[in-house]
Amino acid sequence: MSRFTVAIDGPAAAGKGTISKAVAAHFGFAHLDTGLLYRAVGAKVLAGSDPVQAAKALTPEDLEGELRTPEVAQAASRVAVLPDVRAALFEFQRSFAARDGGAVLDGRDIGTVICPDADVKLFVTASPEIRAERRYLELSNKGIEVTQKDVLADVIARDKRDSERAEAPLKPAEDAVIIDTSELSIADAVANAVAAIAACR
Ligand code: DC
Repeated sequence: MSRFTVAIDGPAAAGKGTISKAVAAHFGFAHLDTGLLYRAVGAKVLAGSDPVQAAKALTPEDLEGELRTPEVAQAASRVAVLPDVRAALFEFQRSFAARDGGAVLDGRDIGTVICPDADVKLFVTASPEIRAERRYLELSNKGIEVTQKDVLADVIARDKRDSERAEAPLKPAEDAVIIDTSELSIADAVANAVAAIAACR
């Protein structure tokens, strides 16, 4: 089987994760949620580690456990501004993208920095209010106590830090297909992504 790379970028809670999992299952590709790498480093830093050492020493076990909390998300966004942290995570992501049989990577800089030659680039976005509402429901369903106002403030702070950083900022690649999920059902968002990928195969 040959290589085929799908890069999916976008801001927090826009639906990247859901779309990535669904298209990976649809086409039989492997999937890497690159945000988890930054979250794992962020969690280590919250536990007292040095960010660069933590990124260099990351193991698959570090990606397990509860990394989807608001505290870890903010810590991930803070370590993600550090060029040495990004450099330490670069090779792992590149080799994942180059595996035989196809790969979907989702994150912030996949189409711009990690896989500028990806076969398909999608940029999945939605309004901050809608993203905050979705994240609020997701966290509440997990029993994590948050207010809608705090979740919106978190989303806006993370968007700002992720988009304004000097190294690999969040932005659509010039050749990315933009999918705005604000008004789309999950099924329609996935169908749009599948169609965009199928058109390039
Ligand atoms: O996708 P996520 O919400 O799990 O990502 C958590 C943080 O990690 C995000 O706020 C910024 C950082 N990140 C990044 O800088 N580059 C990536 N490719 C993925 C995530």
